[in-house]
Amino acid sequence: MPFDIKNIARPNILTLEPYTCARDLFSTGTLLDANENTHGPSIPDLTEAEKSLELFRYPDPHQAELKQQICDFRNSEASLPDSAVKIPNGKPLTIANLSLGVGSDESIDSLIRCFVAPGREKMLICPPNYGMYNICAKVNDVELVKVPLDLTNFQPQTDLIIETLKADPSIKLIYLTSPGNPTAVKIEHEKIIELLQAIEALDWNGLFVVDEAYIDFSPIGSSVSVLVNQYPNLVVLQTLSKAFGLAGIRLGICFADPSVALIQNSMKYPYNISNLTSDVAIRATTKEALAEMRQKVFDINAKGKKLIQDLLALDGLGKQVGGFDSNFFLIEVLNKQGEPDNETAIKVHMRLAEDKAVVVRFRGTELGCKGCLRITVGTDEENKTLVKELKAVLADI
Ligand SMILES: Cc1ncc(COP(=O)(O)O)c(C=O)c1O
Repeated sequence: MPFDIKNIARPNILTLEPYTCARDLFSTGTLLDANENTHGPSIPDLTEAEKSLELFRYPDPHQAELKQQICDFRNSEASLPDSAVKIPNGKPLTIANLSLGVGSDESIDSLIRCFVAPGREKMLICPPNYGMYNICAKVNDVELVKVPLDLTNFQPQTDLIIETLKADPSIKLIYLTSPGNPTAVKIEHEKIIELLQAIEALDWNGLFVVDEAYIDFSPIGSSVSVLVNQYPNLVVLQTLSKAFGLAGIRLGICFADPSVALIQNSMKYPYNISNLTSDVAIRATTKEALAEMRQKVFDINAKGKKLIQDLLALDGLGKQVGGFDSNFFLIEVLNKQGEPDNETAIKVHMRLAEDKAVVVRFRGTELGCKGCLRITVGTDEENKTLVKELKAVLADI
């Protein structure tokens, strides 16, 4: 059965007509049609830059310029000779493939609302994984089916996922994170393609979502976003919160088949991307800004490798768990017997935060992460502080 959005989206969502904004009808002239306050904001020290953003106007609901820059970025990286993932024949990304959200958290939730019927249908996740999948499923009254990652390498268990889909036709969405959180392991793109091909052969009426929040910390050309025009069941989530260093603006990107993107765009709040956010996001995705982002990622990667080596030399820490395809990594805290231990890890985590004001994340209760702290790579100064204070805490535990 070929891919057909009518077999995938919830019936109530299929009949949605997007909200028509005032600006969709007329965009120039004396605009008195949207109940905006043309006297402007009452902020005495509004900067010239803020004035130029016309903050009294509703934002553009379509964000075509920003979407085009994002497509150009992904298409150009996939066209580099060394890219692992190439643009499928004659089908580069276009803005019809995109919907934007308030962080990728918005897309995680809206995909569930579009495609999984509450109380009846299910979603498959591969723990250990990002916690919001569980929360959004719960909020939407959607049952979770768990097929853990292979804990020896944190790659998906493809055969088990396919068997599970065959056994339970009520599964409508699969969420996989690449690189993983908390594992920091990039899912091999061959594994993703293997899953997509197996899904095609199954005639499965669902979507396979790959959350690539950290993908720009992996080698350039690793993103599978360019494959959405080849595999219509594929949806890819990205964000400006991580490699782009813009968690504060809340800009998430969802790449999908145009029929899926159309639905996502029809159901979103019309003005979800603010003037301030799109202004910064457009500036962050110019060629110059992207070159700078790549330089910073290179720098973070080098600093991270050094930090891992410095930490592995400390008494009381065990091995690094997972990978480093991201801007964070997992490392074990050991007990007196030299074994990874959650109780000791919690003590270290709390002492580090309360006595030393250095905050990392305890992740020891996640599958395959016993005794682990998740550490984000900081600046040279922050990394130095972490090593110094962690050494002191470990000596005193
Ligand atoms: C795997 C993963 N996906 C999505 C997000 C959320 O990103 P955003 O800031 O775009 O909502 C995070 C944030 O930590 C994450 O780790």
